This record gives sequence, structure tokens and C-alpha cells, in this order.
Amino acid sequence: MSSYLIRGGRALQGEAVCQGSKNSSLPILAACILCEGAVELDNIPEITDVDATVKILSWLGCRITREGTHMTVDASDVTTGEIPDELMREMRSSVIFLGAVLARTGRALISAPGGCEIGLRPIDLHLNAIGKMGAKVENSAGVIECTAPEGLKGAVITLSFPSVGATENVMIAAVLAEGETVIRNAAREPEISDLADFLNAMGARVSGAGESTVRIEGVKQLHAAAHTVIPDRIAGATLLAAGAVTGGNICVRGLIPAHLEPVIDVFEQAGNEISIRSDAVVLRGPKRLKSVKTVRTMPYPGFPTDIQPPVTAMLCVSRGTSVVIETIFESRYKYVGELVRFGAKIRVDGRMAVVEGAQRLYAANTLTPDLRGGAALVLAALAAEGESRVDEIRHIDRGYEDFSKTLSALGADVRRI
Ligand code: UD1
Repeated sequence: MSSYLIRGGRALQGEAVCQGSKNSSLPILAACILCEGAVELDNIPEITDVDATVKILSWLGCRITREGTHMTVDASDVTTGEIPDELMREMRSSVIFLGAVLARTGRALISAPGGCEIGLRPIDLHLNAIGKMGAKVENSAGVIECTAPEGLKGAVITLSFPSVGATENVMIAAVLAEGETVIRNAAREPEISDLADFLNAMGARVSGAGESTVRIEGVKQLHAAAHTVIPDRIAGATLLAAGAVTGGNICVRGLIPAHLEPVIDVFEQAGNEISIRSDAVVLRGPKRLKSVKTVRTMPYPGFPTDIQPPVTAMLCVSRGTSVVIETIFESRYKYVGELVRFGAKIRVDGRMAVVEGAQRLYAANTLTPDLRGGAALVLAALAAEGESRVDEIRHIDRGYEDFSKTLSALGADVRRI
């Protein structure tokens, strides 16, 4: 088991470069399956969710080279659409392979991802949509088999919720389908637009990504292409929150600031001074943060659910009381019980957390419950007096590239043991 030992109380200073987006890289890597040629990808973060994705690609028969954040994926030899249970279990978002392997091989056999640390995470929207595109879908005893031996057909799909994963799965499945697919109430996250840009670079015809209606005109085949993944707005916002919670002065470069608009608004309400450059955000934290009006998580362009835990950690040391409402995932407050160990004053009632800002936090030993909850604990430890310990940081490794190194470079006292 790996842990972080963190001696808090140091104001972060200096510059950090934001990693590539996890949530873009995973669907983009899955979409490589569609192409019978070598794809060149840049800015793929070195995180364990990418390692798990690479394992699945290799198992399916892809040839992969990886050097730092550069990767080539050649899916020319892929013939199977079966993904073993143990590989599926390593990463919940492996369901994103469903559309890709089905489109490529005419059959997908995967295990149902089931619940995870932050909620139930059903995949009914994915399966209904694939069914509408002409696939036969069988879902029994935790095994999902989808078949479309004659190929998939374009369809009009109206999502009852703008699910990011379902939008991506349908986009990927529709690229090689016969005719046009229209996704209504599609997710509008920047990662959807990044996926569309990548698919279009390979010769797909996707339009409207980033809007509520996405259209995909099926093509016969895709060709080799190169693509650079967008910056990780969640990792970038986490670093900014680390600057804020320590009263620091930091610049996060390599960002697309427009992707962070709803988050920047909350940072400003909390009394941070923000200045925006073309590819960077500079944050100067106040001596004492202020409480904010309600933070409500919403699909993009609303406040992202993935930033909710780090921002809640930030609010723990603000003056006054803030209310956080989580509307996307039902179990996203597991980390709160751990935050309380630092002396944070938070009450959770269903989807609402009431955070009463404390003058200071104190060192604690804590256990990481999930990826973003883990980031929240690291932030609390950075703000707390004395040496804290954050255990089970494998959850953090899923999404943050060398988190301790990035924080140390900003002056934090963090050691990995
Ligand atoms: C993606 C992100 C995740 C982020 C989330 C919301 C990746 C790898 N992960 O997850 O970091 O927190 O978007 O921005 O990109 N739902 C259903 N049925 C479905 C699918 C989803 O009911 O078939 C529900 C979920 O239970 C949840 C909500 O829809 O309550 C949002 O889920 P979704 O947008 O699909 O999230 P993911 O794609 O899993």
C-alpha cells in the first residue's frame, strides 16, 4: 500500500504545467479500435487508468508503443470483441470499449461494470442506444453480449440524461454505422468535442459536438491520424484549489481557461484573485478564504462533479458557511468522513453538504475512498498544521500524474512512501 506523508502549512508558490485529460484519453484510446492503421497520440497522461486501458487494447490485439505522454496504437489486427472480466474490473470506464469493439468486430462481450465508490453507475443509456442502432443486446448474470453481424445502423437517440459515457459510446459506435445517427440531449463536456476532433481527424463525419445535438454521418472506414489530447481541466482545477487552500500564489499553465469558467467563478467568490492568460490561470489566495453561495454540480457547462471534493476541501478553511449540492452521483461524499478527521466541520444530508469554515485544520491519518475524494484529502493535509498521512493513494494514481512531484515543485512538503 502506498501513502503520502504531508507536512501542511506551506503556501504553494510557482508554476505547474497541467497534464493531459484523463477523461479525453480513455474514450480516444478506445476509439483507436475503429481504425485499421497506426494512430499517433500526444499528451496522454501517465496514470493508472491509462495503464488499464492499454492492457485492454493489448489484449484485443493492438500494437502499442508508449514513450512518456506519446503513444502509437495500431489496431490493424483486432478481431475479437471479448474483454475478460478481470480487465473490465480494473477500470469502470472500460464500458467505453463497448461501441468500439462492436462497431469493429460485430460483437462485444463484456462484464457489467456494476457499482463503484461514487455510486451505482448504471449503463442502461449505453445499452438502449446501442439497441436502437440495431444491435441485439443480451444482459444476464453480469455479462453483456451485443451483436450486430450486419453492422450498426444510424438512429435518432434521445438521452434522458446527458451522460458523458453514453454520448461517447454512441459517437464511437456510429462512426462506421450505415447512415446518420443523431444524439439529442448529448453531453456537452469539452472531452466530447475532443473525441469528435479525433474521430474527424481519422476521417469520421461528426458535427455538433459540444452542443446538445450531435450528428454522425457513417463512413466506410477510417484512416491513420495524429491527435493531441486536451489539458485535464479537473487536474488543473485541483492544483488551483491546492493554491487556494494554502493561501498560495500559483500559475497553472497548459490549460484551456474557458473549460474552467464555472470553477473560476467559485474560486473568485471565495476571495481568490484570478487572472487568466491565453493558456494559463494564475491564482492568488487570500489570507482567509470566504464562504461561497451554493455550489451545485451540473452537467457541463455547469460546475463539474469531479471538482466538488477538492472545492469542498477548500471551503473547510473559509470564513462562514457554504452549501454544496451534488446532483450527478449519489455517493460522492464518502471522503467527508475523512475530512472531518482534520477538524473540518461538515454535515451531509443526502445530496447536500453544509460546510462551516474552520479557522484551521489539524494533521490526521486518513484513507482515500476514491480518486477525487483522495485529492480533497491531500488538499486538507496541505492546509493542516503538522504531518498528515493519506493512505491507499492508488485511487489518486488513477487520475493524477505524479501528484506528489507536481505539488513538491510548488513548494509542498509531500513524500510518497
Ligand atoms: C464521466 C467521467 C467522470 C465524470 C462524469 C460526469 C470519464 C471517464 N468519466 O463519467 O469523471 O464525473 O462523466 O461528468 O469520462 N447514468 C445512468 N445511466 C447510464 C449512464 C449514466 O443513469 O447509462 C447516470 C449516472 O449514474 C450518473 C449520471 O448519469 O448519475 C452521469 O453519468 P455519466 O455522465 O455517464 O458519467 P460517466 O460517463 O460514467
